[in-house]
Amino acid sequence: MVLSLAEGEGRNAVFLALQGYSVIAVDPSQVDLNKARKLAEEKGVILEFIHADLVDYDLGEKQWDGIVSIFCPLPSTIRKALYKKVMAGLKQNGVFLLEAYTPEQLKYGTGDDNSVDTMQSKTL
Ligand SMILES: C[S@@+](CC[C@H](N)C(=O)[O-])C[C@H]1O[C@@H](n2cnc3c(N)ncnc32)[C@H](O)[C@@H]1O
Repeated sequence: MVLSLAEGEGRNAVFLALQGYSVIAVDPSQVDLNKARKLAEEKGVILEFIHADLVDYDLGEKQWDGIVSIFCPLPSTIRKALYKKVMAGLKQNGVFLLEAYTPEQLKYGTGDDNSVDTMQSKTL
């Protein structure tokens, strides 16, 4: 079972489902989740969607084969706490796949409230 964090409009979760993974996708935006549901329908895959904020989402313990985080801009304090939850939530030999922004992204003006602090993958 794979958990996709900050799933947005569904491209990553749908891709994983098309590879045969069982996927649960989390995002705090209902608008994005609706788009993700539509994409999953169009592609003929079944996913579980959870409307939640990673600030207080409980990832549980040793229950995920994989956790995926692609371009999730989070303040360092929240990011640090999340990474701890990710490590606790993975099964033994589970995989955390992280693709993160760098502050370089700021020059493109994407996102609403992004800052040097949020556009990183480091915990400190
Ligand atoms: C740039 S989009 C990336 C979406 C998707 N991961 C992708 O690669 O297409 C950033 C996503 O992070 C989500 N996000 C931002 N803050 C979040 C938080 N505190 N908890 C969960 N998701 C969050 C947003 O709702 C948005 O869908």
